[in-house]
Amino acid sequence: MENQSAELAGHEQACARVAARFPQRWLGGYVRGKLRRDPIYPAAWDLLCSSSEPILDVGCGVGLLAFYLRERGCRQPVLGLDLDARKIRHGSRIAADCYENVELRCQDVQGALPDFSGNIALLDVLHYLPRAKQCELLSHLAGCVAPGGMLIVRDCPPDGGPRFWLTWFAEKFAQMVSWNLNTPLCFPSRASIEENFNAAEFKCETRPLWGASPFNNHIFIFRRCAPKTVPVAG
Ligand SMILES: C[S@@+](CC[C@H](N)C(=O)[O-])C[C@H]1O[C@@H](n2cnc3c(N)ncnc32)[C@H](O)[C@@H]1O
Repeated sequence: MENQSAELAGHEQACARVAARFPQRWLGGYVRGKLRRDPIYPAAWDLLCSSSEPILDVGCGVGLLAFYLRERGCRQPVLGLDLDARKIRHGSRIAADCYENVELRCQDVQGALPDFSGNIALLDVLHYLPRAKQCELLSHLAGCVAPGGMLIVRDCPPDGGPRFWLTWFAEKFAQMVSWNLNTPLCFPSRASIEENFNAAEFKCETRPLWGASPFNNHIFIFRRCAPKTVPVAG
């Protein structure tokens, strides 16, 4: 019970501190609400806090994951990549002023990615890419997971239920108000995510991560349990 309330206090303080870094009131308010209510941030912290491997945050937005992890005591270098120059501008000012070893870079993750080995987060990004690009990206990222490291994916399987449609609607709304990129949405099925990971190399855990939200978000955790297999020539 005591542990639980200390955990909650740590979470609440981190959310408030990250939000206070954003000079624009509207954005600070959004950030605080998002961090407080979305269960992915404490879940990612729980998974990553004991690893010293660097973190690649693919489709990092304004850098919420990196900032939240820092405010909860994680010290690993974080590199965030996002196509949206406006979000990168908001976040990289804060990273430069407040957080050592956090870099946010404007980059389309459908192109060549920087050399990387460590832990990887891919949160709510896949559904912005066409199916073939989703597979290409997942296969590439699988090769970047360090021994003992993990890739954390969060997305919304299109099961046609009310939670799925609410998620779809919320994404459309975010696109309509110009907060998210206006590209066609292609929500990946559970199988289409999992099939990119060799069962001999990765242990996969998938579960709903609903928290108190009405959305159909699921977390997919791919833990590298064996080195990458290199195909033998001939
Ligand atoms: C719903 S937001 C999630 C942001 C962040 N992962 C988070 O959890 O706060 C999806 C992000 O993916 C980014 N994105 C979409 N397509 C991308 C691409 N091709 N390359 C890089 N980023 C992309 C968007 O710009 C947006 O910031």
